[in-house]
Amino acid sequence: MSKELTFSIIKPDAVAAGNIGSILQMISDAGLKIKATKMIHMSREQAEGFYAVHKERPFFGELVDFMISGPVVVSVLEGENAIARYRELMGATNPEQAEEGTIRKKFATNIQNNAVHGSDAPETAAVEVAYFFSNIEMVG
Ligand code: TYD
Repeated sequence: MSKELTFSIIKPDAVAAGNIGSILQMISDAGLKIKATKMIHMSREQAEGFYAVHKERPFFGELVDFMISGPVVVSVLEGENAIARYRELMGATNPEQAEEGTIRKKFATNIQNNAVHGSDAPETAAVEVAYFFSNIEMVG
């Protein structure tokens, strides 16, 4: 079976709350391999570029402000069906609707400050991985 890559962000709320370790542990316990990871503090231009698909949405400005409010941890995850499995582990966008045992149920505050990002499709995963990582940053 083929392995799939997905892209993850531990967002500024979860980093500020000291939850990097707990979230990486949940990812690892779910059987997803961490291929690359680093902490960065995005510029406004980088965050606007990353969320370009949402630029017409009413929440875009606030979302960008939030994403540049502090450092984030970006990672590349690998596994069978990694995109869907990571989205299941993340839980619903709005933590009020997130299932028990998910990252957002445990660590998200509201629909914007929701602890993590995960790619939603193979095409977006490829674009998002390439936005933050080069090949030499990924373990084999
Ligand atoms: P979306 O792609 O709908 O969710 P997900 O992160 O679960 O893939 O939205 C992207 C991000 O935009 C979401 O994580 C937080 C932010 N957002 C808001 O701030 N307000 C909103 O009403 C929605 C729908 C999203």
